[in-house]
Amino acid sequence: MIALGSDHAGLPLKREIIALLEEMNLPFKDFGTDTPDSCDYAVFAKRAAEAVASGECERGILCCGTGIGISIAANKVRGIRCAACSDCFSAKMSRVHNDANMLAMGARVVGPELGRMIAEFFLTTPFEGGRHQRRIDQIAAIERGEALE
Ligand code: RB5
Repeated sequence: MIALGSDHAGLPLKREIIALLEEMNLPFKDFGTDTPDSCDYAVFAKRAAEAVASGECERGILCCGTGIGISIAANKVRGIRCAACSDCFSAKMSRVHNDANMLAMGARVVGPELGRMIAEFFLTTPFEGGRHQRRIDQIAAIERGEALE
């Protein structure tokens, strides 16, 4: 299950991602917004990120104007590793090295076709594990306020 969220600026790109998920036969849950009226990205980032953090959704995709505000907000939820990406290489590496569980994109940064391609890399690339798991564990330790060795 893929969690989706956007503000008004990200809504057109989120609609592209919904079309992609339907083509890929991947189930999704859309946490809003669903109107072009101006709204606050943190509200929708929080809803979608909490669904990922709780395990209700496996991964999530967020869209705002730049992908920046909504990723910063999502990363405030414990357990979320949200990567703001505007290229396929970064999206792929966010999975391989960082085990990103959320992707954020900007509808004012990437076009619909690039956005779809970035999302495909994010959805289909596995985490490599190994030495990268130690680094993910360190990120979790920071969240718990623990010292790093
Ligand atoms: C909304 O105008 C815009 O600020 C928002 O979508 C996002 O780009 C913020 O980071």
